[in-house]
Amino acid sequence: MARGRFILLEGCDRAGKSTQCAMLVAALKEKGHSVELCKFPDRTTTIGQMIHAYLTNAKELDDRAIHLLFSANRWEAMQSMKRKLKGGTHLVVDRYAYSGVAFSTAKGLDLTWCKNPDKGLVRPDLTFFLDLPTTEAEKRGGFGEERYENRELQERVREVFLQLKGKEWVMIDARETVQSMHHRILKEAEENIRVGELDGRFAE
Ligand code: TMP
Ligand code: MG
Repeated sequence: MARGRFILLEGCDRAGKSTQCAMLVAALKEKGHSVELCKFPDRTTTIGQMIHAYLTNAKELDDRAIHLLFSANRWEAMQSMKRKLKGGTHLVVDRYAYSGVAFSTAKGLDLTWCKNPDKGLVRPDLTFFLDLPTTEAEKRGGFGEERYENRELQERVREVFLQLKGKEWVMIDARETVQSMHHRILKEAEENIRVGELDGRFAE
């Protein structure tokens, strides 16, 4: 059986990642795939609750301490994610280590230091970057509710994201309509799944 694909959606706040993740999961399910949604930060765990308290300004934490908590929140999901991928389930993931590095570096931490704790995490097979100018993000509902949602930081975050961008990233203009973004993302994801199935067959 072919391994499941790890499909990641990244981007700044309010770019529409969660909407697109939900639509992608639903569309792939409809086409008969085994697929699950993962979201980082996962606020349901003990570590996730500490992160939530920090993001909602209920708790203060040192910049490095919160960075490590975000990373630990990914590590605590690793065994289960690996098991699912091995079992042939595709994972659609809403934010991951790129967010971890982009936000903490934008706050002023050293880039290499920020990358280190995530070394060894399972890697995405396909990464979409939903790109939205900060001036557009600000106009969207809910912007400003959480700690990092301010223009200066978001602009720096976007710059670091673009610095981290790899050749394999698929850039999505998040000013497009929800449907047109969805069509593009679904098409690329299905193509990636097809390639994965072929690879799996050759490997046997
Ligand atoms: P969310 O809005 O997708 O739930 O993410 C909450 C905030 O946490 C968002 O501003 C991005 C930030 N973040 C980090 O700073 N580091 C991380 O590792 C992750 C996953 C998110
Ligand atoms: Mg948010």
